Amino acid sequence: MDAGMSAVRLDQMLEEMLSPDEEMSGVNPDTQALPETMPVLPLKDTVVFPDTMMPLAVGQPRSVQLIEDVLAKDRLMAVAAVRTEGIDVPAPSDVYEVGALVSVQKMIKAPDGTLRIVVQGLRRLKIEEWTAEEPYLQARVAELPDMAEESTELEALQRNLVAIFLQIVKLVPYLPEELQMAAVNIEDPATLGYFVGSTMRMKTPEKQSLLEEVDVAKRLRRLTTILNRELEVLELGSKIQSQVQSEIDKNQREYLLRQQLKTIQEELGETDETQAEINELRARIDAAGLPEEADKQARRELDRLSKLPAAAAEYGVIRTYLDWILAVPWSASTEDNLDIVHAREVLDTDHYDLEDVKDRILEFLAVQKLKREVKSPILCFVGPPGVGKTSLGQSIARAMGRKFVRISVGGVRDEAEVRGHRRTYIGAMPGTIMRALRDAESNNPVFMIDEIDKMGSDWRGDPSSAMLEVLDPEQHSSFRDHYLDLPFDLSRVMFITTANMLDTIPGPLQDRMEIISLAGYIEDDKVHIARNYLIPRQLDRNGLNPGQLELTEEAVRTVIRNYTREAGVRNLERQIGTVARKYARMVAEEKQETMVVDATQVPDFLGRQKVFAEGKRRTADPGVSTGLAWTPTGGDILFIEARAMAGTGRLILTGQLGEVMKESAEAALTYIRSVAADLKAPADYFRKHDIHVHVPAGAVPKDGPSAGVAMAVALASMVTRRPVNPEIAMTGEITLTGQVLPVGGIKEKVLAARRADIHKIFLPDRNEVDVSEIKAELVEDVEFAFVEHVDEVIKRVLLRRRRKPAAAPGTNTAAASAAGTRRRRVSGSGSALASD
Ligand SMILES: Nc1ncnc2c1ncn2[C@@H]1O[C@H](COP(=O)(O)OP(=O)(O)OP(=O)(O)O)[C@@H](O)[C@H]1O
Ligand SMILES: [Mg+2]
Repeated sequence: MDAGMSAVRLDQMLEEMLSPDEEMSGVNPDTQALPETMPVLPLKDTVVFPDTMMPLAVGQPRSVQLIEDVLAKDRLMAVAAVRTEGIDVPAPSDVYEVGALVSVQKMIKAPDGTLRIVVQGLRRLKIEEWTAEEPYLQARVAELPDMAEESTELEALQRNLVAIFLQIVKLVPYLPEELQMAAVNIEDPATLGYFVGSTMRMKTPEKQSLLEEVDVAKRLRRLTTILNRELEVLELGSKIQSQVQSEIDKNQREYLLRQQLKTIQEELGETDETQAEINELRARIDAAGLPEEADKQARRELDRLSKLPAAAAEYGVIRTYLDWILAVPWSASTEDNLDIVHAREVLDTDHYDLEDVKDRILEFLAVQKLKREVKSPILCFVGPPGVGKTSLGQSIARAMGRKFVRISVGGVRDEAEVRGHRRTYIGAMPGTIMRALRDAESNNPVFMIDEIDKMGSDWRGDPSSAMLEVLDPEQHSSFRDHYLDLPFDLSRVMFITTANMLDTIPGPLQDRMEIISLAGYIEDDKVHIARNYLIPRQLDRNGLNPGQLELTEEAVRTVIRNYTREAGVRNLERQIGTVARKYARMVAEEKQETMVVDATQVPDFLGRQKVFAEGKRRTADPGVSTGLAWTPTGGDILFIEARAMAGTGRLILTGQLGEVMKESAEAALTYIRSVAADLKAPADYFRKHDIHVHVPAGAVPKDGPSAGVAMAVALASMVTRRPVNPEIAMTGEITLTGQVLPVGGIKEKVLAARRADIHKIFLPDRNEVDVSEIKAELVEDVEFAFVEHVDEVIKRVLLRRRRKPAAAPGTNTAAASAAGTRRRRVSGSGSALASD
């Protein structure tokens, strides 16, 4: 038979504590002596402490009898907790040896025969010996007093315990506040320990060990530990609770505010439009299939947008940003046409020759056919204007079935132009790369970046650093535009850059590209291009049928020679366009049906001859030599003029010469002065003359060392008053000792000489390899003389002195061989050259 604390609630118990039963008033158990043997009521899951009250439910028949017997006597009995779990009728060995002496304060009989009692704990007992098990447990008991020494430590423990207890009561909803008062008012540390121990929930063994502890200080310490642990758990619990609470509050608040906002918007008549807009945007984001990061960003921004009134400035900014995210072709791409025969056809239809580039593209397609996901090459087409760089790019896109976009970075000085401005700037936009991709609507277009050699840099930042990233296969798989601030994969884009010259492209940038150079065309190429490409195209553009207008080969040559001077064919195409247009008008005015234009009729369409091969006239006077220059527009011929006048030995240099070219002029002069005697110049020639070296056209800046030889020759011609052979052009750097050093751009220079109808060229001997790399048909009518020393040049290019010394310019116009020797083949080195 046992008892347990069940239906009786603690607050009921307290009520009872505060209103003690009258029946009990005569008893003073504290002073009562203990009887020899006592009935022992075993308690299930309960420990009764001395100095505390405890309600108990008693159900077992033997326990009911025990209570009835006790009530009939002195109301005193012993209670002790059961140590073994799950036993209904515990034997003595199942019961702890330490328990309490209690007096039964109150008893209520329930209708089912069980009892509710309230007991008052009095003293601690130790069961010394069991004396009976029937009709209920009985034992001989002895008191087990506390050991307590008054000390400051005990005092501190006591106060501390009260403090923690107060906190716990505050946090635990089931502990009534009155407990706080009660705890504060208890003075005896032992009693306090029992009191606190009885109110806290803990396991029976724990409670039992508190009861068994005879040292009060130790008991309080143990209790403090337990309370601290409990407090920690409680605090954590309440923290979690308050977090949950505030979360709920926030949501509720937001919901309320939104509801209010809706009402306000409805009142203002705003809801429909903005809401519809947001819904539409959301639907677009859902459908867009954005990459993860972009999707997250878009939804975040949409969320912000939905909280803003449509009139807010921020609204427009976010709206635009979202439109941009949605416009970028994150995953849209075109399928490559890998049919190599088809590609070849397209490329050939659009452009004549240019085999290197065409081969490269076909190779790329072939590799791609064998292996998907090939890295797109990054090509750089270098060459003079009008040789077909841009149009070739278009053609490549057409051949591969890709989209084509083109941007020009010429004159761009601002990094933000390439990469965009951060969104914090007013009016910020993505950079030109992302804008072009949006236009392409595909993430694998042929992307042409024109004029990469003319990109600048200043305080606004260096666009080439952004370009480096765009064109670096290692980096551009996550290109980040400042405005979008999301990584975009550029690795499927086929980049083609174009440039007129390599010199101004920063080295690291050159390094990342595959350079393919397109030199200019010679006349025969141009004729071919004109007849097969430009004329049909221009006829078509002007609404004429193929064959309606024909230009004879001679007519085309006349246009090339007399109306254009260029390495490419852009002007040629324009002139042909003019012819076609004028003819179209004649057709429209019904003057003509078909027509064949020959060379003599060209001026009828194009007016007077515009370009003259002036080389031979210009060098008629002594002091003028023909140099060859390599310019961004292809090669060109260059006249070096040297003139002496009475003076004091000054050197004047004009014609917008760069530093290197000036130094080159000085070196040439020094060399000529050092050999003045050999040139039969008067000893004081250089002391008594100022020397002026000029390089027309004066407005075009020129630089580089390659005019050194031509300068020395011009000076030699000036000193000797012997004119330079007008049929000869020359290039090469010279040293102070007259050595000739190799120079660049040989192919362009050779083509330029041919355009100027010059067929004999002096080159540094170390440039012989460059000549051997030029296609044979381009140089079959050109004769080269490779020289090591400038003396050789001087000896071989100066013509015999004319009878009358060249005193004033303009007086001698008849050049030695200026007229008529067009395309004369020069048979052997030196043989056709005049010498001393
Ligand atoms: N080999 C060729 N075959 C057919 N047409 C050509 C060829 N080369 C150039 N063209 C034509 O010449 C015109 C000018 O070419 P394009 O505009 O591509 O020159 P570019 O090299 O880009 O010059 P720039 O450096 O000035 O930009 C185009 O109409 C092009 O079709
Ligand atoms: Mg171009």
